[in-house]
Amino acid sequence: ALVVRHRMKSSGKWAQAVTILREFEEKCGTPISKLKQVADAMTVEMHAGLASEGGSKLKMIISYVDNLPTGDEKGLYYALDLGGTNFRVLRVHLGGKEHHVVKQEFEEVSIPPHLMTGSSDALFDYIASALANFVATESEGLHFSPDRQRELGFTFSFPVRQTSISSGTLIKWTKGFSIDDTVGQDVVGELTKAMERIGLDMRVTALVNDTIGTLAGGRYNNPDVVAAVILGTGTNAAYVERAHAIPKWHGLLPKSGDMVINMEWGNFRSSHLPLTEYDQALDAESLNPGEQIFEKIISGMYLGEIVRRVMCKMAEEAAFFGDTVPEKLKIPFILRTPHMSAMHHDTSPDLKIVATKLKDILEISNTSLKMRKVIVELCDIVASRGARLSAAGIVGILKKIGRDAVKDGEKQKSVVSLDGGLYEHYTKFRTCMEDTLVELLGEEVSNNIVIEHSNDGSGIGAALLAASHSQYTEADEP
Ligand code: GLC
Repeated sequence: ALVVRHRMKSSGKWAQAVTILREFEEKCGTPISKLKQVADAMTVEMHAGLASEGGSKLKMIISYVDNLPTGDEKGLYYALDLGGTNFRVLRVHLGGKEHHVVKQEFEEVSIPPHLMTGSSDALFDYIASALANFVATESEGLHFSPDRQRELGFTFSFPVRQTSISSGTLIKWTKGFSIDDTVGQDVVGELTKAMERIGLDMRVTALVNDTIGTLAGGRYNNPDVVAAVILGTGTNAAYVERAHAIPKWHGLLPKSGDMVINMEWGNFRSSHLPLTEYDQALDAESLNPGEQIFEKIISGMYLGEIVRRVMCKMAEEAAFFGDTVPEKLKIPFILRTPHMSAMHHDTSPDLKIVATKLKDILEISNTSLKMRKVIVELCDIVASRGARLSAAGIVGILKKIGRDAVKDGEKQKSVVSLDGGLYEHYTKFRTCMEDTLVELLGEEVSNNIVIEHSNDGSGIGAALLAASHSQYTEADEP
């Protein structure tokens, strides 16, 4: 009798765990009807954000980029790409129409976590000194003439209120950064002061968001690029808008008639978004409560954490991993999205990778195959929601620029440049996003929409924009 009762008890718990999973799945639901509402809401918010400053959760930041690279850019330029857990320094030799990127060298430096929440000076000193070390590796043949200042494109992937192409103040930090004394400061000023402190003579000629850099890099390779999307640690999009469709722009109408807009779509929010109790809790306990809600259900910084939170609930309320809640499982952000991706892609019949990840990261051993299948399903629910919502976001942009329908049998291609670790490395996320786009747009329209991976576009893009905004004229080129 004892054995029977015990068995009943554990099957009751199993049912309870499955209920938790099913309820979560239901709340995460993204049927096409809902995605269409999200896309429409995105379009509406884009209009509102362009109409007036503060008119929407979407900041729709004017980038001051009114000309995208043509291919004529020439010379040697530096770029610095700061935006996630790593930053990169690049040296790019641009050879003009005939030669394009002649040579490109880069170095990746990781940012010690304490600098992400320390002081502004400490962060910028660290960056400037890594940059100085990189400049010191310039080879003999590349030496600049002594009277020519080195120029730098600065990709700074946070919301910045641009005041010109080469200046702008930080509105707020996002992702894992939180350094109070940088907020409201000109980030180019911060970097320039740090470079001066160590005697590095360089001038920032372009300050851009990673979406803008990706758009510029994408356009350099393909003239049909109209928008860029980042799916990485954070998520965001930029696109080419007609300047006269930007009521809040009071400057001169640019010659091109165009202005590139950094949407900061990570901060998008709508009653149509499928939010769950786990998302609410994650948000409440985050560094930026109430902000970046779209980002918190889509991007790489958060997906693994959402999975952990649901697992935690199954452990607490359904004793999913035994009588006690595994200690490691209680640690926020311990389960990172690359781990989740590895589990989600496990194709071995006994889900060996899932077992290993659970053991190595969470110190959970002795899981049954049935349990591991639940974990894989959980990963699938979280990733699919994010992927499908990002597709809806892209459709919102295409609607705004009138590329969401085929007009008079037109075959005009619209290319969207994509970059970011989630897009690059999380295959199931990427394919789900791409399939959903087709589902939303229909076959005919989809034939004219191309998603293109812009490998490393944001760094090169910044170098290209540094070149087109150089203080020197082409006649001065070495
Ligand atoms: C965050 C930043 C945004 C950036 C995105 C992708 O959303 O606020 O500026 O483009 O992450 O890196």
